[in-house]
Amino acid sequence: MVKHLLCLADWTSEEILETLSMAEKLKYENKNGIRHNHLLKGKTLGLIFSKASTRTRVSFEVAMYQLGGYSLFLSANDIQLGRGETMADTAKTLSRYIDGIMIRTYRQSDVETLAECGTIPVINGLTDSYHPCQVLADLQTVKEKKGKFKGLKLAYLGDGNNVANSLLIGCAKVGMDITAATPEGYSCDPVAISRAQEAAAETGAKVVLTTDPIEAAKDADVVYTDTWVSMGMEEEKEKRVQAFMPYQVNDELFSKARPDALFMHCLPAYRGYEVTDSVIDGSRSIVFDQAENRLHAQKAVLVKLMG
Ligand code: CP
Ligand code: NVA
Repeated sequence: MVKHLLCLADWTSEEILETLSMAEKLKYENKNGIRHNHLLKGKTLGLIFSKASTRTRVSFEVAMYQLGGYSLFLSANDIQLGRGETMADTAKTLSRYIDGIMIRTYRQSDVETLAECGTIPVINGLTDSYHPCQVLADLQTVKEKKGKFKGLKLAYLGDGNNVANSLLIGCAKVGMDITAATPEGYSCDPVAISRAQEAAAETGAKVVLTTDPIEAAKDADVVYTDTWVSMGMEEEKEKRVQAFMPYQVNDELFSKARPDALFMHCLPAYRGYEVTDSVIDGSRSIVFDQAENRLHAQKAVLVKLMG
């Protein structure tokens, strides 16, 4: 059976932890001059993008290059998908040419169709519902900085979006406590919440949902936020800014966390909205380590699925 990465809930805790160990090893070896260009020699990954990207696009392209493979950037507007060819026919066609697909799009169901109808691994590079590659890199970063997951509390503040949904599941799977504080009407997806609770029941992690940003930040080891206006929601910006201002990660809110708490953000950041310059540029911000780890974590995913 072909293995995919559509949502972290589909992977066992063991699979996630193994992938993180592999990512750590690949990062360490790469920094010590060990090349990995034999691991995906001759393999091709297609990268379908219906939304903008800096980190995901560049880290996947560089990852394939460093693993000895090749990547094809396929802007959804420039392939027939953008003119109405179905996801199913796209999946069947691409399966005849390439060895894997990474897709960034709107509907999670489109990513699922691609996986069901094709015969090659599919990687979710962000949908409206989930962002699993981001959260694997985030977990790698937490492990690197704090040395463990158990006994830590991550506070997510802001929009209950794709990143938040994947964080709930990812933290629960590795046994790290998570509290998500979102305004009324902007909470995480109920399916993601129940998937996280299911995983938490196995690992003993605590999954807490609240509307109170101070309760969430209190005693946190990691404070995480993301944009209040995800791609595709631009017309809601004004309304959202009103609702989200109390969740801004500024010095005051960050001071409720533990004194050694770290600040995380998947980027791109909208400074002055979800986070202030003082926090994101401060000494406890690890946002560029997260961005770097996209490369290492995704290499581990690519080797697992396509190696
Ligand atoms: N964090 C993230 O996925 O960034 P990009 O949108 O730049 O890919
Ligand atoms: N929640 C954001 C993440 C961007 C990487 C969005 O979907 O736009």
